[in-house]
Amino acid sequence: MKSLNQWQAEEYDNKLAFVSGYGKNLISWLQPQKGEYILDLGCGTGDLTYEISLTEAEVIGMDASPDMIRRAREKFPELKFVEGDGHQFETNRPYDAVFSNAALHWMRSPRLVVDSIWKSLKPGGRFVAEFGSKGNVQIIVNALEEVLERNTGIRASERNPWYFPSIGEYSNILEQSGFVVRQAYHYDRPTRLEDGEQGIVGWLAHFGGDYFAGFSPDEIQQLCQETSRIVMPHLWKDDAIYADYKRLRIEAVKPEN
Ligand code: BEZ
Repeated sequence: MKSLNQWQAEEYDNKLAFVSGYGKNLISWLQPQKGEYILDLGCGTGDLTYEISLTEAEVIGMDASPDMIRRAREKFPELKFVEGDGHQFETNRPYDAVFSNAALHWMRSPRLVVDSIWKSLKPGGRFVAEFGSKGNVQIIVNALEEVLERNTGIRASERNPWYFPSIGEYSNILEQSGFVVRQAYHYDRPTRLEDGEQGIVGWLAHFGGDYFAGFSPDEIQQLCQETSRIVMPHLWKDDAIYADYKRLRIEAVKPEN
């Protein structure tokens, strides 16, 4: 099973293109302006970094995964991409805005992340983000943890790699750092997975790495299939599985003084 840093970036582009597809809409909250200096935090393979660059803002993509950065550079050689950890990045040149789509739920120490963002912004700078919110993929998480505990005896909830806060929790963290929260929005976004009845198996293979540490590929396949059987009656609609995504979209500003 791959770890986060070993994701197959090509597969990510092919099977999980919805991640950046949905994220395009978030750029309307960012409203990038020509000449602005913007960080795309957790840029993946760079699709949204590219979209932002079309506004003639100067944008830089950052991701913790070397594989994602390699792929982003291949796809968009004219843009700048760097490896970096959202928990502890710095910049010599402060940003006008920090943007992040579908990445912050991988960063388990949100206070460190928000602190890094705060320090990297100019006074008046914006922080615009969307990521998994409280209850995100809960049906899948419950089923997977049930299967792991029943079959292997491990305490699966201790392996949960994600951070899905409520609006209140995340706004509080932002406000404690000094941000003013301008807009915050929680919404359900059932998300259609590729590969029909095998959709959950593929999704878990990409995203569930930490849960499967120490198991063989055959064991993982079996655990995924069993999880899939449990969630199917809840998530199958028409001709596909719709994962129970719930999003938090937020805009905050670092005050001028
Ligand atoms: C999400 O985008 O909500 C997500 C992606 C991977 C794992 C969990 C959640």
